[in-house]
Amino acid sequence: TEETLVLVKPDGVARGLTGAILARIEAKGYALVDIRLVEPDRDLLAAHYAEHEGKPFYEPLLEFMLSGPSVAIRLAGNRVIEGFRSLAGTTDPTTAAPGTIRGDFGRDWGLKVQQNLVHGSDSPESAARELDIWFD
Ligand code: GTP
Ligand code: MG
Repeated sequence: TEETLVLVKPDGVARGLTGAILARIEAKGYALVDIRLVEPDRDLLAAHYAEHEGKPFYEPLLEFMLSGPSVAIRLAGNRVIEGFRSLAGTTDPTTAAPGTIRGDFGRDWGLKVQQNLVHGSDSPESAARELDIWFD
């Protein structure tokens, strides 16, 4: 089996979509191993988003992620990394496919793709690193 880090980002929590997003994850059949509400500090987010440091959207992204709590989920199942990213849909919620979390619940609120509701690790290496950051 495999594990991944899923985040319901501050926009998803603030809009009251945590339950709807969890329902899709559970309906797909993945196992919730651990779940917690986290108010991350800047250091945690800098570690999480280290690959994006220096990009134009980095500072706004950190500000957005500091704007409220996220729900962190340790999720398990065979091929859960690619499976959750498929459930989430592509990065831009405006054009993410209907039927996906981002496609059904997301849109452009003025910052193009920033408010896209969820995060999912993109590789086994990222998953191990990110799970260490959000669950100590
Ligand atoms: P994650 O699952 O959140 O990692 O999404 P992703 O892998 O589809 O996107 P990526 O890792 O490339 O970017 C991380 C996050 O940064 C995205 O989910 C967005 O919230 C934000 N982001 C990415 N690209 C842009 C951009 O061009 N502008 C803005 N404002 N935000 C961006
Ligand atoms: Mg990513």
